[in-house]
Amino acid sequence: MAKNKTQFECISCGYQSAKWLGKCPQCDEWNSFEETIKQKSVTVIDAGSTIEVKLSDVESSNTQRFSSNLNEFDYVLGGGIVSGSSILLGGAPGIGKSTLVLQLLKEYGDKQLNGLYFCGEEAPYQIKLRAERLNCNSTNITLSTEIELNEISRSINRIKPAIVIIDSIQTIYNQEIDSGPGSIVQIRDCTFKLVKLCKELAIPVIIIGHITKEGQIAGPKILEHMVDVVLYFEGDQYSELRLLRSNKNRYGTTNEIALFKMTAGGLKEESDLNRYLSFNSDWGMALSCIKEGSRYLIVEIQALVSRSSYGMPQRVTQGIDQKRLNVIIAVLEKKAGLFLGDQDVFVKVSAAIKVTDPIADMAIAAAIWSSFANKKSSTKTVYLGELSLTGQFQKIQLSSERLREFKKYGFDRIIANSDKSQLNGSNNLRIVESIDDLNDLVINHH
Ligand code: TYD
Ligand code: MG
Repeated sequence: MAKNKTQFECISCGYQSAKWLGKCPQCDEWNSFEETIKQKSVTVIDAGSTIEVKLSDVESSNTQRFSSNLNEFDYVLGGGIVSGSSILLGGAPGIGKSTLVLQLLKEYGDKQLNGLYFCGEEAPYQIKLRAERLNCNSTNITLSTEIELNEISRSINRIKPAIVIIDSIQTIYNQEIDSGPGSIVQIRDCTFKLVKLCKELAIPVIIIGHITKEGQIAGPKILEHMVDVVLYFEGDQYSELRLLRSNKNRYGTTNEIALFKMTAGGLKEESDLNRYLSFNSDWGMALSCIKEGSRYLIVEIQALVSRSSYGMPQRVTQGIDQKRLNVIIAVLEKKAGLFLGDQDVFVKVSAAIKVTDPIADMAIAAAIWSSFANKKSSTKTVYLGELSLTGQFQKIQLSSERLREFKKYGFDRIIANSDKSQLNGSNNLRIVESIDDLNDLVINHH
């Protein structure tokens, strides 16, 4: 019997199967299987090169980093771009990926360092227009519209720039591989070869990748394993605020975030989130303070509870996981006697921030309660507490950094299950241990 040379692979996580599958058993993605050619495994070891080395003999080098004037970008990387490192930059179309790399190239150019920009996605005149808007017409930026991997490698070898940008990985292909650009085989092969080449030449490379609706780099999740750093651009096209998050960083802390705003003159650092909070005393509003990496962020939770016109009430979220909302609603019903079974519940986080920190549970519950009871919430109050299924809030430590953040925003009231002894006197702490204690707070403002 002839040997089957093809196989099927999940474009989301890389799971391989001999047959086409409707749903991936590994990542649960639907309709994500693509036919690929089985590749012979290639040995990548150079004959004669030494690959084994005693740990004691390894020279501890001081990692060389390039620091730009984009302080937030440096911060998220842990202090700048490390030479020879590979950075995957993901984000939805139009979020600002190309803008960010162009601003970075300007930084390199200002220090007389050459940048090589493979802009397969756009024509050079489009980049030129953007560069003029950003005021970064550096003579040290070289553009190339080449999309064939071997040609790209040749250019990098010939020019030996200080940084390489690939915009985007979905447009690049290797002609030796019988598969179209953007396919899983091409993306994986091109990323692997680019990362290897740039590491050998000690040139940092930024690889831009589009993300799918679900927030993953389109193409294999395995791409994330090949690079040193994975950055995701988050935000909403209707808000100026942009968050750059490090999902993986071999040279720094992961889950660190950088804050930018998209202005007419490109991306600018954003140091103050005050502008994105309404601070209105209104129905269905509650503030919390989440931790992202080593940074604290004040977030505004908005909830709308209204009588449902359909048999099945709606639960709609933006910025928080819907399953998490379902749990909070269930606890509110069971432990606090709030009946929401015939109510639609909508919850969103302002400024398109995504909230995963469970400490915001209390603010979500308070916002829902406030909207349900038609009671205005009090401003300058911050709710902190992870909700357990038994209706209790976890005890928390109020760190001095967190308290400093509250001071900056002028909060005078903290609602949490914490110790008064941790406060420095300036803040007013109301201890809330269980979810039904919220009633007195939301309804009577005590
Ligand atoms: P872009 O960097 O092209 O996004 P991506 O590469 O992630 O697809 O950014 C495009 C958006 O940014 C576009 O909607 C216009 C806006 N923008 C500004 O608001 N100001 C600017 O100075 C620039 C260059 C773009
Ligand atoms: Mg782009």
